[in-house]
Order: sequence, then C-alpha cells, then structure tokens
Amino acid sequence: MTTSPNTVRALREALKFSPDNVPLRQHLAEVLLSMEQYTEAEQEYRQALMFKPGDTILKLGLATVFFQQGKYSPSLVVIEDLLKSADCPAGAYLLHARLLLNAGAIQQAVSQYRYATAIDESIADKDFADRLGISNEVLREQDEVNEIVDGKIRVSIGADTQIPNGNIESPQISFRDVGGMDTVKDEIRLKIIYPLKQPELYRAYGKTIGGGILLYGPPGCGKTYLARATAGEINSSFIAVGINDILDMWLGNSERNLHSIFENARASKPSVLFFDEVDALAANRTDMRQSSSRMVINQFLSELDGVKTSNEGVLILAATNAPWHLDPAFRRPSRFSRILFIPPPDARARVEILLLLCSGKPVSAIDYELISKKTEHFSGADLKAVVDIAVERKLQEAIKIGIPKPLTTKDLLSVASSIKPSTKEWFQSARNYALYANEGGLYDDILKYLKM
Ligand SMILES: Nc1ncnc2c1ncn2[C@@H]1O[C@H](COP(=O)(O)OP(=O)(O)OP(=O)(O)O)[C@@H](O)[C@H]1O
Ligand SMILES: [Mg+2]
Repeated sequence: MTTSPNTVRALREALKFSPDNVPLRQHLAEVLLSMEQYTEAEQEYRQALMFKPGDTILKLGLATVFFQQGKYSPSLVVIEDLLKSADCPAGAYLLHARLLLNAGAIQQAVSQYRYATAIDESIADKDFADRLGISNEVLREQDEVNEIVDGKIRVSIGADTQIPNGNIESPQISFRDVGGMDTVKDEIRLKIIYPLKQPELYRAYGKTIGGGILLYGPPGCGKTYLARATAGEINSSFIAVGINDILDMWLGNSERNLHSIFENARASKPSVLFFDEVDALAANRTDMRQSSSRMVINQFLSELDGVKTSNEGVLILAATNAPWHLDPAFRRPSRFSRILFIPPPDARARVEILLLLCSGKPVSAIDYELISKKTEHFSGADLKAVVDIAVERKLQEAIKIGIPKPLTTKDLLSVASSIKPSTKEWFQSARNYALYANEGGLYDDILKYLKM
C-alpha cells in the first residue's frame, strides 16, 4: 500500500463523487490507520459503518483505531460486539487479547491470543507473545495435522501428547493448621466431609449429596491453604487444578483435559479436587462471547453434575478473588451450591495464625495479642511475611554476632509497621459489587465485614 499524502488526497477526491462507496472509504480508513492518523481514520470508519453497520472488518478497524488512541473502553465495546458475530475475524480475537492484557487479565489474554493464532497463524505477533510470556511455545510438530473444517479446528494428536491429570498431592496439613475460619471449617465438614463419610445417613434424611463449595475473598487469606487442609483433614489425595492445566489453544482439547482431570479424581477417591482461580475458567458465558470458552464451561458444568459418572467420593472446592465474574450457572445446587466468604482474619484468628507461624521458631515471650491489635486488615499471607522477614533479620544479626537470639515482640512489631495490609485494595472493588450487583444477598458477607 502506498501511503503518501497524495494517496489520501486522491481517495478523498474520489469519495466526493461517490460518498457511499464503502470499499473505497474503507481503503481510505486503512491508509489513514497505517499512517497513524487515528482521528481521521476513526472518522472514516464511522462514516463507512453508517452505510454498512454490520460489517465485521469495518468494526475491527474502528476498534483498532480506538485502541491505538488509548480509548480502551470503546474499543472493548466494539470488540465484544464483534465477538458475538458468526464471521468474527481472527484479528478481533487478537485485539481482544491486547485489551485483556491491558486490563491485567493475563490468562484470558493468553487464551484469546492462542485462539486467534489457531484460527489464523499468520497474525501471530512475536512481541505480543513475548509480553504474554508464551513466546517459547513454538507451534506444534509437523506430524500433527491441523485443519480448519467448518470454522472449527480439527486436531490430530501426536502420540506423545500429554493429557494432564492435575498434580496429586497428599497434604500434611489439616484444619488444625489453619487459624480462625471456624464457621467455614464447619460448613466444609457439614456440606462435604460428613456426606462423604456417612452417605447412608444423609440419604436417610433425604439430603442430596454432591455439589462443591466455592471460597472467595481477598488474596492471601487462606483459600488455597484451607482447601489443601481439607484434604489433609480426611487423609485424601488433593488435586489442584490451575487454568493452565486445562486451557489449550486447540479446540476440543480443553474439554478433554477437564474431563481427564475429573476422571482422575474419581479414580483416586476419596479426593479433594480443587480449582484455583476458577473465575478464569468459568467466567460468565455472556462475558466470554467466544464459543470455545463456552464449550469449556459447558463441559465443566456437566462434569460437576456428574452426568456420565458419579462424583461420589470427590470433594469439589474452588477459589476465586472475583466471584462476580463466575457464570451464574455454577451456583446451582449440585454445582457450587455454597459460596463462602473468606475474610481477612479477625483479631483472634490473627493470634492463632501468628502462633502457628511462630511455632517451632526460637521466640521469647511474645505478646501475640498486641501484634494482632497492630495488624488489622492483614491477610494470613501478610502475617507470614511479617514473621518471615523478622526471622530473616534475626538470622543476619546472629550471623554477625555469632550468637542466636530469640524473636521478640518488638522485632515483629517493627516489621509489621513497615508492611501495608494487602487486603484493602480488594475491598475497594468488592464493595461495588456488593452494593450494586448483590443478587439474592450473595455478597451480604462483604457488606457485613465492611459494616455497611
Ligand atoms: N488462616 C490461616 N492460617 C494459617 N496460615 C494462613 C492462613 N491464611 C493464610 N495463611 C498463610 O498465608 C499463605 C497464603 O494463603 P493462601 O495462598 O491460602 O491465600 P489465598 O486466599 O489462596 O490467596 P490468593 O487469593 O492470592 O490465591 C498460606 O500459604 C499460609 O501460609
Ligand atoms: Mg489461592
């Protein structure tokens, strides 16, 4: 494409005589875009769209122009609209990936980028892949035949393709190692541990067995830790599943991965199957207007329902920082029927956590109550950082003077005062969801915590 001001002038001249010539206007818009004249390009795209409002290429052009000007929100609106259309161009997925990355949703950006390049290899962008941290993923071996049939990618899998099982662990921690959270522990016992141990009793009372528990709350407050402790509590295996274990750029593979993880959990029962950051996997189907993720969600739902094979003996737990992004279909009974808020530890729980963290370490008489008082809003992870840093300082001191000295209240307080609690930021956004998207009082616990 020759991109000189002369070209632009000539195109504008021609358009004067046939203003409704959409291909011509589109060409002008593209020229302007390539010359980085974004405002003018935007104008031409808008004009062209007035004549041909449904045109996907024009919409993608407009979204691109918005993006280039840093108008991310309108760009996202256009892209989301575009993703709904049957003939959505691959470039739209790529731009969506850029927008997602921009918004900090890295995993989703990765999956959108993979999808884009799976539809159209030629739009692969090495720099962008670098930023996503997936530039080393070279395209698969030649011996795999991938073809696009009816808009779907058909994959023939090489013999050495690994099917993930999730990583099976046997956790050494139990509920005793988790400070506070008494009500949550009780819920877990009542809802999933007892039914596992005494299924007849539950049936006799006409209670249905099954369904998982979703834990949500600010980061670092023990969701993952508690899930692991649940497995330790009943001496079962623990299978932690992250989004990377499941999502795969090849159409159909993600569903297969998910199925094989559930099958593995059923085969090693009793087991705790734990989905960490489940919102990335089970994001609202209307948010993710992309058919492939819808298929993963549907697969997930039917695995949870135990449609083909029973989930008896498999305790299902999931955790998220953003429950509001979860597809509401997951909240039905037999799926994640209990949604439990895991708040930052209260004063008593902080004492318990500090005691747990300091046990086995050389300490002098420590005033745990006082430290607890000075660490309001601290998460369990924050408290762990306080203890870790204090221990490290002590160690350095000991190396210097050659005599080990016990940890003191003062040591811990001095570290605590230098650390900012990490939970506050989460509450800033959670508060809005609790106020304005609190269907059925789902987030009442957040409001209660905030004393609102
Ligand atoms: N109640 C608790 N009792 C004991 N230790 C805790 C508790 N809460 C948090 N911790 C400590 O903090 C660490 C981080 O907690 P964890 O990873 O479970 O948080 P999380 O809620 O899963 O966070 P994220 O949302 O970021 O995944 C744990 O490994 C544990 O050492
Ligand atoms: Mg976690």
